[in-house]
Amino acid sequence: MKLSVAGTGYVGLVAGVCFAEKGHVVTCVDVDEEKISQMRQGISPIYEEGLEELLKKNIDKGRLFFTSDYQSAYSDADAIFIGVGTPEQPDGSANLRYIAAVCRQIAQSVTRDCLVVVKSTVPVGTNDKVEQFIKDNLERDVTVRVASNPEFLAQGNAVYDTMHAARIIIGTEDEVAKKTLLDIYAPFDLPIVSVSRRSAEMIKYACNNFLALKISYMNDIANLCELVEANIDDVAEGMRYDPRIGAKFLKAGVGYGGSCFPKDTKALTYLARQHGAQLKTIDAAVEINAQQKTRLFEKAKKRLMTFENVKIAVLGLAFKPGTDDLREAPSLDNVRLLLEHGADVVCYDPIAAQNFHKRYPNVPLANSVEEALEGAFCCFIFTEWEEFVRLTPEVFRRKMRVPLVYDGRNILDPELMKRGGVEYYSIGR
Ligand code: UGA
Repeated sequence: MKLSVAGTGYVGLVAGVCFAEKGHVVTCVDVDEEKISQMRQGISPIYEEGLEELLKKNIDKGRLFFTSDYQSAYSDADAIFIGVGTPEQPDGSANLRYIAAVCRQIAQSVTRDCLVVVKSTVPVGTNDKVEQFIKDNLERDVTVRVASNPEFLAQGNAVYDTMHAARIIIGTEDEVAKKTLLDIYAPFDLPIVSVSRRSAEMIKYACNNFLALKISYMNDIANLCELVEANIDDVAEGMRYDPRIGAKFLKAGVGYGGSCFPKDTKALTYLARQHGAQLKTIDAAVEINAQQKTRLFEKAKKRLMTFENVKIAVLGLAFKPGTDDLREAPSLDNVRLLLEHGADVVCYDPIAAQNFHKRYPNVPLANSVEEALEGAFCCFIFTEWEEFVRLTPEVFRRKMRVPLVYDGRNILDPELMKRGGVEYYSIGR
């Protein structure tokens, strides 16, 4: 099928590349000319395992195109997927201006009946507005159907998550739209859940909010574990075998970050308030997460006499491993606090260092863990990169002035660290 994808961020680009891989002819549209020319040369603007290979392969096969000329991309597409951002506004609501801009372009460009598919995370009811808005602005006598098809990929795993999605949600009451989406997804051979448009929109928020809630719940329990001398890792191990609970998202730590959970929890509580309701569970999850992010900093503050001119090593900046994304990363809150308290901060991250440098050009970056630890009085770990998991007590002792470690992702063994002469603190154990 002839597909177009609006927006080449995580959602749009990965969807476009995977659709091409499954045999569709795909044109990805973005306003950013520089990005377009980069992608045409087979360079992915985001770091995602396997993405660049598939991008190059499908360009070579003549199935994947990039353009900033929306008119040509939308005019005779069978389906147009919208994957542009819906950033958070100061009041917590989702900003729909990029969606509106794409809808206007679609209305101006389509020359035949087509399906518009909203992949971006949008508040319940947005698909109705999208349909009306396109209808109001159409320049030709054609039928444009609108369906919801939320995306569940996680950064760092985006290609795998798309190719092996747990399910595809198709949200439409229209049989023609449903049939088109079923045809598009047929080559993926994945379970399909077909629901109303509004339910599809809600499923996306319900999932992300549930996962955020699960993490905050585990962090809440972890903090209690510390008080009663239980171990949160053991507790999680005992919980994960219960299929009603599930084995994933039970990891306690310095809280969730990224471009999704923080934004989507706010957007859902905003939606509830708009309807005179309150989501007390989500409010609590958000509050716990905010406190959790700086929990280790607060502990270190009690332990150290001062941060003033004290060398502090920060290992891990990305909001999770496998990505260079720093949005809402717990590392940022902590670096800001450390700097405010006068610490000499040195950071290391295998992938996200350059993005960090754009935000904090004056904070020195180390080229390796050992370089970051050299002469430090204290070390914080904020991302569970594989190379940190392998760290031994010996390296902390050898490199640091004082082997004092705050592990915000519970990746090191407390007993091993203690026996190896490291003063080690983590979360809930
Ligand atoms: C999340 C969802 O997992 C995806 O299903 C969804 O499609 C995506 O948002 C989205 O809406 O676009 P993502 O934000 O990329 O994906 O990353 P996650 O793997 O969910 O991690 C989010 C945060 O939670 C990270 O900071 C991670 O460290 C933290 N986390 C995760 C924990 O603290 N504990 C856990 O057990 C799991």
